[in-house]
Amino acid sequence: MKIVTTLSELRAARAGLPEPVGFVPTMGYLHAGHLSLARRAKEECASVVASIFVNPTQFGSGEDLSKYPRDLARDLSLLESAVVDLVWTPTPEVMYPPTFQTWVTVEELTKGLEGAARPGHFRGVTTVVAKLFNAVQPHKAYFGQKDAQQAAVICQMTKDLDFPIEIVVCPTVREADGLAMSSRNAYLNPDECMAATVLFRALSVAKSAYDKGERGAEILRRIMTETITAEPLAKLQYVSCADYDTLQELETVAGKALLSMAVFIGKTRLIDNFVIGETVSLRE
Ligand code: PAF
Repeated sequence: MKIVTTLSELRAARAGLPEPVGFVPTMGYLHAGHLSLARRAKEECASVVASIFVNPTQFGSGEDLSKYPRDLARDLSLLESAVVDLVWTPTPEVMYPPTFQTWVTVEELTKGLEGAARPGHFRGVTTVVAKLFNAVQPHKAYFGQKDAQQAAVICQMTKDLDFPIEIVVCPTVREADGLAMSSRNAYLNPDECMAATVLFRALSVAKSAYDKGERGAEILRRIMTETITAEPLAKLQYVSCADYDTLQELETVAGKALLSMAVFIGKTRLIDNFVIGETVSLRE
């Protein structure tokens, strides 16, 4: 496994890779979810590139950029075990030199949910992912369903900017108790870890109501809200029952829909989602 930092090193190493090339962009502090993306890329592509870059432009001013967990040595050994061929670890100066002034924004899809709760977040995500795509020039790029809106926004950007890249969205990997894997789970103490299962429980209760025939989106949102508010360590930021393609809030669930939420467990902000409904999505 080759490890590079500068753009010219990356380009030289990328030029020698057998194609097709699969790409797994990450912010490091890797967990089983990231490794599932790398393994899927390895199954589907001749070479796999991963990037590790804690992207400062996607963090808001009061957010956790300075304390975001980092462990490069551990990340590199995990990527090696997942048979990644090339790892790019750019510095902030490589990605954002002092003269940097160009941004990529996706308009409608970023207005609600995470976009509303974290102003500017998706501008940072789409800008860095566009730069990563331009540098790595992968044939396929792999993202997790846990960040459902991010996946939708990146699919839209890829289509709108004509990147010749297939976006592959892979299932959320969960702990045995249902907690979605996230680098931010490292912030949780043992009590908070238990409390954090409330996201999965709330989504499960709403999905089982849907499976029993409930189609009222407000009722599904209320079911999730009630489960979250019953957990003393949890503070709900939002719950949503939205159209899967447009991410607009629904009144009635008639097709494929996204149940999602953002919840503070103590000081740690966690997100999770379930997809419900059967009809084929425009994104598939
Ligand atoms: O999902 C993440 O880890 C980040 O948002 C990404 C896609 C690597 C961009 O910084």
